[in-house]
Amino acid sequence: MTLFRTRAPLATAVLATVVVVPIAAQPPNRGRPARPVVTLPDGPVRQVILGRCTACHGIDEYAYYAMGRDDWRALVERMKTARSGVVEGTKISDADLDVLLDWLVAEFGPDSKPFPRASAK
Ligand code: HEC
Repeated sequence: MTLFRTRAPLATAVLATVVVVPIAAQPPNRGRPARPVVTLPDGPVRQVILGRCTACHGIDEYAYYAMGRDDWRALVERMKTARSGVVEGTKISDADLDVLLDWLVAEFGPDSKPFPRASAK
């Protein structure tokens, strides 16, 4: 089968093109910006977050916000009445709230750059 032998390299080249190009041509993450990734901080605020804030959802979404202390306080107030279906509203002491707000404003304060929300639904 000399015919097969001579055509095999061509077939390999065609196959490589068909397989490799569509993958390479895809924009990363389908053109949407990646989601934010927020690293759990060390220090006293770590325990506040783990104890009061992560029962219902993660912390990455915090990065969508750039707000002052009062707006962050209002958002945390909302978490007191939020419910996940399993967990009913966060309970947070005033002292823990202060620790949390210090960190939120330092990381995601009015001068920080909020992570852009992906617009495509
Ligand atoms: C009882 C469940 C629950 C707990 C505990 C909770 N959350 Fe939430 N959280 C929700 C729900 C439900 C939403 C979506 C509705 C809303 O935004 O009010 C939400 C939304 C948010 C958002 C907005 C996310 C976005 O994509 O815009 C932030 C920021 C947030 N929570 C922070 C916190 C922080 C900080 C704490 C700890 C003090 C906390 N959450 C604790 C249920 C909870």
